[in-house]
Amino acid sequence: PSIFPDKLLVITIATKENDGFHRFMQSAKYFNYTVKVLGQGEEWRGGDGINSIGGGQKVRLMKEVMEHYASHEDMVILFTECFDVIFAGSPEEVLKKFQKSNHKVVFAADGILWPDKRLADKYPVVHIGKRYLNSGGFIGYAPYINRIVQQWNLQDNDDDQLFYTKIYIDPLKREALNITLDHKCKIFQTLNGAVDEVVLKFENGKARAKNVFYETLPVAINGNGPTKILLNYFGNYVPNAWTQDSGCTLCELDTIDLSAVNVYPNVTIGVFIEQPTPFLPRFLDILLTLDYPKEALKVFIHNKEVYHEKHIKVFFDKAKHEISTIKIVGPEENLSQAEARNMGMDFCRQDDSCDYYFSVDADVVLTNPRTLKILIEQNR
Ligand SMILES: *[C@@H]1O[C@H](CO)[C@@H](O)[C@H](O)[C@H]1NC(C)=O
Ligand SMILES: *[C@@H]1O[C@H](CO)[C@@H](O)[C@H](O)[C@H]1NC(C)=O
Ligand SMILES: *[C@@H]1O[C@H](CO)[C@@H](O)[C@H](O)[C@H]1NC(C)=O
Ligand SMILES: *[C@@H]1O[C@H](CO)[C@@H](O)[C@H](O)[C@H]1NC(C)=O
Repeated sequence: PSIFPDKLLVITIATKENDGFHRFMQSAKYFNYTVKVLGQGEEWRGGDGINSIGGGQKVRLMKEVMEHYASHEDMVILFTECFDVIFAGSPEEVLKKFQKSNHKVVFAADGILWPDKRLADKYPVVHIGKRYLNSGGFIGYAPYINRIVQQWNLQDNDDDQLFYTKIYIDPLKREALNITLDHKCKIFQTLNGAVDEVVLKFENGKARAKNVFYETLPVAINGNGPTKILLNYFGNYVPNAWTQDSGCTLCELDTIDLSAVNVYPNVTIGVFIEQPTPFLPRFLDILLTLDYPKEALKVFIHNKEVYHEKHIKVFFDKAKHEISTIKIVGPEENLSQAEARNMGMDFCRQDDSCDYYFSVDADVVLTNPRTLKILIEQNR
């Protein structure tokens, strides 16, 4: 008998809400997954996560919550990361594939062994498919997941993947807990080390990521490690961000209609003159013709060139009547480009009244006076 979708609970951990989190939640909502988010408002103590061990806080939070489901025998838990994950398929599909695996717990598989390479020999041999455990995604019956996470007694900054790995590579525990890996990426696709395996594919007008090595259509796509850009690419289409019928379905979401607001958002424009630049006076004049209320603008200028100081003075004398705050950092400061760009952003970040930062280099030609309005209306 098949498991009903209402028996499936997705659990994820997000101590902050960023764009990646919203993208994940959007894909979950599209398929009607029930998602429980843990760790909200909690401080992250699990390490910086990039190229370092950590993440134990996630197991600790799972341990706390899974206690409540210890005796829910027919309940299925799908744990997944969220900041770099997108759902590409439905709860029904996940449950069907999980049941077909004929195991109580299925972890994502990875071609890359992390974090302890010395454990390589301890993994069961796999003839076709990925051999190593990835703890960014797993699915299992609640009592079994509970029995796994109750074994956690380490610190928040210890490594979650190492913890799960040690349980998996222990033959007795592996059998007692009936754990396997999703070797052929039927449910979980980790992209790190697999960028050549996965392609975008349209089926019945809908976008999926397809693993062409194993001929599978994974359900949870994880842009782990340095594969965020590839995940972003999939996320531009999957699951319904772009469809053949409607085009971009998210582009209009959460935008601002400036014709309907009384007060425009405050924008700081960061201008960077990093080398001698032809037509600089023209560039500066165009800034003043931007179709945007001048009282909502502040300007930060970094000028690296002594030669351009006279042009900036002319601009300042014109602009100061319209724009109340113009901060100029000249060549005498001897700033590197990076320092200058950070300073421009800080000028906005440290100003409570700054809503948006618009960075533009002096060798850019702004041909549309509505440029700033159009960008702000995107609200991105
Ligand atoms: C999600 O639920 C809504 C309301 O019950 C339904 O209209 C919609 O078709 C469902 N979406 C999917 C992908 O099953
Ligand atoms: C895992 O559980 C399934 C039933 O859900 C059983 O058929 C299978 O033999 C078990 N595998 C192991 C290795 O215990
Ligand atoms: C813009 O900044 C001014 C102060 O410089 C402030 O009075 C005003 O409320 C701000 N506008 C918005 C929309 O935040
Ligand atoms: C400007 O900075 C560079 C790099 O930091 C340094 O090598 C150079 O001596 C500095 N020039 C002056 C005039 O301070």
